[in-house]
Amino acid sequence: MDKLRVGVIGVGSVVREIYQYLYFRSDFTPILDIAAVADPNDEYRNWFCDSFGIPAERRFSDYREMLAKVELDATQVNTPDHIHAAPTIASLEAGLDVVVPKPTAATVLDTHRMIQTARRTGRLLGIDFHKREDPRMKEAETRYQSGRYGQFQVGVWYMLDKLMVADPNHRPMFFATPDFAARNTPISFLTVHMCDALIKIVNLVPVSVRATGYSHALPALEPVPVAGYDLCDTEILFANGAAAHIVTGWHLPNSAHATTVQSSRMICSQGLFDLGLDTPGYYEIHGDGLFQVNPLFKNFEKDGTVTGYGISSPGRLYQKFLANRNGALAEAVRADMMTATALGFYTSAVLEAAERSLELGQPIAAGVTQGVSVDLRSLVAEQLGAAAAAEYGY
Ligand SMILES: NC(=O)c1ccc[n+]([C@@H]2O[C@H](COP(=O)([O-])OP(=O)(O)OC[C@H]3O[C@@H](n4cnc5c(N)ncnc54)[C@H](O)[C@@H]3O)[C@@H](O)[C@H]2O)c1
Repeated sequence: MDKLRVGVIGVGSVVREIYQYLYFRSDFTPILDIAAVADPNDEYRNWFCDSFGIPAERRFSDYREMLAKVELDATQVNTPDHIHAAPTIASLEAGLDVVVPKPTAATVLDTHRMIQTARRTGRLLGIDFHKREDPRMKEAETRYQSGRYGQFQVGVWYMLDKLMVADPNHRPMFFATPDFAARNTPISFLTVHMCDALIKIVNLVPVSVRATGYSHALPALEPVPVAGYDLCDTEILFANGAAAHIVTGWHLPNSAHATTVQSSRMICSQGLFDLGLDTPGYYEIHGDGLFQVNPLFKNFEKDGTVTGYGISSPGRLYQKFLANRNGALAEAVRADMMTATALGFYTSAVLEAAERSLELGQPIAAGVTQGVSVDLRSLVAEQLGAAAAAEYGY
C-alpha cells in the first residue's frame, strides 16, 4: 500500500488554517487520498469538497454514514473537543487508524475511552500536538532528560492570541461555530499546547491544578459579547513538587505583530532554559505594518508546498499509520505512540481540572475568578474508578 484512504470528519477552521495544506500541498500529500468528508455544516462541507474535488457521493453530513459506505484506512476527527470521542471510537471500531487535533478530548473519561478502544482494537491513535515537532521543544526534551539541568523546579509559560481569534464580531470569523469562544476557554484552546509540551519535556505526572480566570475584554465585545475568559493562569503541581504556571489568553489587540505571542522559562536545580518561541526569526516592515511570521510552524514555499512543524506533526502520524499497514512499523515506535503521555491523557486531566477549578471558584474582584485547588488523583479516580486511575499512576 502506498496511500492511506482518509475520511475527514469536520472541516472547520483548523482545516482551513492548517490541514488543507497537509492534505493537498505537503510532502505528505502523496501518501494521503482524501477519500470522503463528513460535516453537518453545509457551508463548510461544500467549501472543502468544492475546493478539492470531493464528489457528491462522498460528502456526508453524518460520519456514521461515511464509515458505513466508504472504504477507508484512517479518519481525522477535526470536530470540537467535546465531539472527539464518539467519531474516534466509531472509526477505531471500524478498523481504522485515527488522527485527532489537540486536545485528545474535553474530559479524562472521553480520553480514557479513546485510549482503551485503540488498545483493544489494536488500531493506532495519534494526537496532533504540533509543538512536539517544534525543533526547539525536541532540543529541550533531549537536553532536559539528559540530566543537564538537574530537576525541574518552577516554570512559566505563556501563549496569547489576537482577539480576532475569539471575537465572533470579527469578519471573517475565525471559528466555524459562532459560539466557539463561549463554549471553550483559553485553557482548552491554548493551555493544552503548552501543557503537553511541558509534560513531554519533563516526563512528570501532574498531581494538582488551580486556575485563575480574568474576564474583562470578552464580555465587553460589541455587538455580540462573549461570556468567557480573556486570560487564564493555570498552576500545575507535579509529583516531584515542581510548579508550572501556564498563562494563556485570546485578547491581544488585533494590531499585535503576530497571531500568537508565546514563550517559556524553565528554572531547574542546576540551571534554566528559555524557549524563545516569540522569536521565530522572521520580521517584516511593510506598507501594512510591522509583522512577525513563524516559518517554523507553517512555511509557504515558492513551489506551492507548505512545510513546517504544523504540517510535519500530523504528517508523521500518517507515515506511521502507513508503515503499520505495510507491516513496517517497529514495535518500539508503536509502543511509544500508545503511551498515556503520547495519547495526551495527562493534558486532558489538567484541562478538566483547570476548568473545574474555575467552575468551583469564587470572584475575588470585578471579572476575576480565583479557582479552587483540584487534586488530580481524586478527579481521575472519581471519573475512571480506582483501578483505571492506578494504570495512569494515580
Ligand atoms: N492544531 C491546532 O493548533 C488547532 C487549532 C485550532 C483548532 N484545533 C482543534 O481542532 C478541533 C476543531 O476546531 P476548529 O477550530 O476547527 O473548530 P470549528 O468550530 O471551526 O470547526 C469544527 C467543525 O466540526 C464540525 N462538526 C461538528 N460536529 C460534527 C460531527 N458530529 N461530525 C462531523 N463534523 C462535525 C462543525 O460543523 C465544524 O465545521 C478542536 O479540537 C480544536 O481544539 C487545533
